[in-house]
Amino acid sequence: MGVYMPERRLTNADLERLVETSDEWIRTRTGIVERRLAAPEEATSDLAVKAAEKAIVDAGISKEDIDLVIVATVTPDQTFPSTACHVQAKLGLRTDIPAFDMVAACSGFIYMMQVANHMLRAGDYKNVLIVAAEKLSSIVNWEDRTTCVLFGDGAAAYVLTKCNEPYVGILGNILGADGSQGELLKLPAGGSLHPASYETVREKEHCLQMQGNQVFKIAVRTMSDCCLRLLEKCNVSADQIKCVIPHQANLRIIDAVARQIRIPLEKFCINMEKTGNTSACSIPICMEESYRAGKFGPGDLILLTAFGGGFTWGATLIRWK
Ligand code: ACO
Repeated sequence: MGVYMPERRLTNADLERLVETSDEWIRTRTGIVERRLAAPEEATSDLAVKAAEKAIVDAGISKEDIDLVIVATVTPDQTFPSTACHVQAKLGLRTDIPAFDMVAACSGFIYMMQVANHMLRAGDYKNVLIVAAEKLSSIVNWEDRTTCVLFGDGAAAYVLTKCNEPYVGILGNILGADGSQGELLKLPAGGSLHPASYETVREKEHCLQMQGNQVFKIAVRTMSDCCLRLLEKCNVSADQIKCVIPHQANLRIIDAVARQIRIPLEKFCINMEKTGNTSACSIPICMEESYRAGKFGPGDLILLTAFGGGFTWGATLIRWK
């Protein structure tokens, strides 16, 4: 595992100077206190590369051993080449390996992990580099107080390796999507539907838009539902779970999910006060930090759950090796 957080901190006090908001509102409505911002010249692939370099060292392998690269992001360096291709080039990885991006917004890590899991199990790959990286500050409308207080930048990389021991590693996964509700959380322009134009720039349609309170309810319902279904599918009871690592969007969402799935909030790993919502990176950043802090270790059952734009959602059950 490797995490890279940009140096610059943006506190709630800083945001009070930008938009009509207050530290008190942000803390009580979201749980966020500060977030990191990438430097203007830092692209998403730069954040990704810094995290990936640490993950490769941590895995004790060399760059030549990586045989597949996936990057989960909604803030790619550009539409194409993919950010995964930029990462492959900047890291100097082999060129006889595939590299591609995964677009599932805040569920990106869980989606990407499942794809990597199946590609490993199919037997064609040995060491898969999965990287979640986001420069959300590049798509935030800094005049919109309903969204600009929520998001932050960061990156986390993991090397997944084939493991032949039974009941270890990724034990199960449930993914879902509902494109019919995509309008509630979107980046409207810049694609084939609304190509960039003077109007799209003027109307700030290259920035993220969200109907937060509607997203909130669907996030609680879908994450709770897929966690419960996954536990049942894997024949694991809630009290066997050592830690839950949820997407770090809002402390009140996490609190509601904890109550729905009947796992005490104390078992939930939470670090959003320092990071804000880093979309696809939020789970892998929190998981790395929690592991290093000794919150779980070998043999423990860890439950991950995410919800994001699309809508997309999912849950993954891991027995830590
Ligand atoms: N400061 C002060 N007041 C604010 C702010 C702010 N930053 N933002 C909104 N308000 C106001 C609103 O204008 C509204 O005022 P009104 O009642 O006078 O109209 C009031 O606060 C309540 O607004 P709500 O939107 O109903 O507030 P809510 O309690 O729902 O909190 C929030 C908003 C934090 C966005 C919450 O809805 C949320 O977390 N939603 C889900 C976010 C999420 O999970 N996103 C998915 C992942 S993101 C991704 O995939 C990229």
